[in-house]
Amino acid sequence: MGKAKVFSTHPLFEEARAILDADCEVEYWARPERPTSQEVFQRVKDKEGLICLLTDRVGDDLLRAAPKLRIVANVAVGYDNVDVASCTKRGVVATNTPGVLDETTADFAWALMMAISRRLVEGDAYARSGNWKGWNLDQFCGTDVWGKTLGIIGLGRIGRAFARRAAGFKMHVLYNSTKRAPEEIERELNAEYRDLNALLAESDFVSLHVPLNSETRGLLDAPKFFRMKPTAFVINTARGPVIDEAALVHALEAGKIAGAALDVFEQEPFIHPGLKRPNVVMAPHMGSASVETRSKMAAMAAHNVAALFRGQRPPNMLNPEALQSA
Ligand code: GLV
Repeated sequence: MGKAKVFSTHPLFEEARAILDADCEVEYWARPERPTSQEVFQRVKDKEGLICLLTDRVGDDLLRAAPKLRIVANVAVGYDNVDVASCTKRGVVATNTPGVLDETTADFAWALMMAISRRLVEGDAYARSGNWKGWNLDQFCGTDVWGKTLGIIGLGRIGRAFARRAAGFKMHVLYNSTKRAPEEIERELNAEYRDLNALLAESDFVSLHVPLNSETRGLLDAPKFFRMKPTAFVINTARGPVIDEAALVHALEAGKIAGAALDVFEQEPFIHPGLKRPNVVMAPHMGSASVETRSKMAAMAAHNVAALFRGQRPPNMLNPEALQSA
């Protein structure tokens, strides 16, 4: 039996390629631009494995066009781009990359919170502009982070990693989650549960750490922004559609909240023009983007694919039941 044929929509990193190439015959997408969905369809139709990024939509139409497919390995922890139910129905295993990016993403959310509150991006632009005439008492005064109330929405792995950072800043930590965390976690994080409306009303910083699904789409909408303090900031490193972006722009324009720091957007790479304002800090979806972490994510996806074709259980299956129906 020959090696399993796999298509990877990205060239990946060395470690991942070494893992894959031992067990699979991999066609790597090598062009700098992302493949169109037609290009993915074309390449995947005779493949048994697909390694994809969060920008690749894997729907039932793609699965139907690739009848030999046995695994879809998403190089991301979030998997809203993959129709997992269709994968299961067709006996295709779907995997993601949980755990390896928690601290890196929490670091980045923290950096965004610091940047928006202390006006770092505005200050950087001014320092570079050549217009700085010298220190002044009321120049670029921002808002303290330390000692404030931090509201975390979603206390999964990344939410907890984010919460742990609050201790050094002497913050009061609140959280909201679909399930209340076990008491020992609340104690370890010094975090108090609040219902969503209470969390929004009390927090100086609200940070999102939920996956995108039918319950979280549009979670922060106009009525929710209305509940927040006019001095509060929102931070989003989760998924863009968790925020109703038009409502956010309106809340910023109307002074319902003080600002936002965003790594993700409703229709990436499109950015609502109303977000291009001084009290918004933006990043192009780079929360997990450290060399170490992105390399680990790719290796994890490679391990999942290699395991399946070696007759083992992929370690990060989202639908273990797919193995039974295969
Ligand atoms: C990145 O956004 C991820 O889900 O891993």
